[in-house]
Amino acid sequence: MAKIKDISKIDYSSKKEYGSFYPVLEHQETLDGVEDAFQVGLLDHFETEEHDYNKPDFTFIDLFAGIGGFHLAASSLGGKCVFASEFDENARKTYEANFLRHNKDLFYSGNFAGDITKIDEKDIPNFDFLFAGFPCQPFSKGGHRKGFEDTRGTLFFDVARIIKHHNPSYILLENVQNLVTHDNGKTFETICNTLDELGYAINTSPLILSPDDFGIPAIRKRIFIPAIKKALIKKDKFSLNLSTSLSLANEKGAYAIVDKKPVNKEFYISDYETKVLEAWNEFYLGIDIKVIGYPIWAKEFNKDYKIIDTPKWKVNFILKNRELYKRNKKFIDKWLKKYNYLDWMKPTQQKMEWQAGADIDNIYEGLIQFRPSGIRVKRPNKFSTLVAMNQPQIIGKYKRRLTPKETKKLQSFPVDFALPIQNNIALKQLGNSVNIEVVKKVIQNMRSYAN
Ligand SMILES: C[S@@+](CC[C@H](N)C(=O)[O-])C[C@H]1O[C@@H](n2cnc3c(N)ncnc32)[C@H](O)[C@@H]1O
Repeated sequence: MAKIKDISKIDYSSKKEYGSFYPVLEHQETLDGVEDAFQVGLLDHFETEEHDYNKPDFTFIDLFAGIGGFHLAASSLGGKCVFASEFDENARKTYEANFLRHNKDLFYSGNFAGDITKIDEKDIPNFDFLFAGFPCQPFSKGGHRKGFEDTRGTLFFDVARIIKHHNPSYILLENVQNLVTHDNGKTFETICNTLDELGYAINTSPLILSPDDFGIPAIRKRIFIPAIKKALIKKDKFSLNLSTSLSLANEKGAYAIVDKKPVNKEFYISDYETKVLEAWNEFYLGIDIKVIGYPIWAKEFNKDYKIIDTPKWKVNFILKNRELYKRNKKFIDKWLKKYNYLDWMKPTQQKMEWQAGADIDNIYEGLIQFRPSGIRVKRPNKFSTLVAMNQPQIIGKYKRRLTPKETKKLQSFPVDFALPIQNNIALKQLGNSVNIEVVKKVIQNMRSYAN
């Protein structure tokens, strides 16, 4: 892979006012991650023959930018970012590492801003597309109009005042799925009313999308609120047609993003975890049922104490565990003895939740998670990405957790996207981000709808 030679020629130290995290690019140590991104071809994601970055097809602003999921998606479609705002230092660091080189204008012009509440909308350059994955907050209870004025004091108000001043052609908001039900639906209603009041048509129904809708083996449902200037489409409502790209079944399931080659040692499960899984696998193979419709609580085996003051659902599970024990007494007693009555196991790991139906024959064919509620085994079809970020799932077949590289694939980030920060922060940032392919589909659809 050819190195980009002029990397050290850029003298950022002279741009003091811009406050870069990477003031002197010759400083190799700080720049390992950054340089990787430059070298391995992150630029290729933007600069294709189709899209000349100096003659963008559209311009956009990236509010609550995080590490730049919207930026990546829009740039790969020929867009150019003219303003971004993010106040978290680690996110800014990652953002800068990945976008500085290909968009120096953004950084040098002072248009990579921090706290959006402190930015005057008049200081933002004109743009075509506004992206914002804003934090969800309730709106004032006192308001009657349920529109722009009611949003004051929230971060959505900052989005709204920017929209009001600039009147861009397109808006794409993104949030957690339960934004729709937040504050008894009032939050969502107020957002829709505000957009309407500001002259925007929105999608007829809440657009809830997950990467697995597009054949990516990750479950991550998010709400998207696409809005197009009414004057542009001469309508008050519209309906994006994403159906053609939905349900691209992926036969490989979770393995589509899993590295087959050995990975760094740190990702493999520990000896203790291996022993825990070995014990539970033996248990699963030895009992008389294959589809377990309730959590296994080893503590309830061989117990007959009177169950009092216990919620009904819990009583039900306890009784089921006792019945299972009675039916399999000979095997379970032997199993308990062999594994020292599980005394060495953490209490939460003395529980097992089988959520794979009859689709797999043993634990190692599944995706496994050590959760506070027990060891959970799922079918190896899709990762649950949110969980993947905080408590990475274990790929049973390879006895290891997901790597950041695989997590990037789940979010459809280029694998050479630089994460110049600690692994756990990097995973959290990826978890907060949007899935690039999903966003790309929505942007493409919005643009073709209006054209
Ligand atoms: C859900 S994340 C957005 C992630 C982003 N869409 C991405 O692709 O990475 C929300 C971001 O908003 C940032 N944020 C919250 N309040 C802010 C403010 N007042 N000004 C600027 N950024 C803010 C947070 O630091 C966080 O990174």
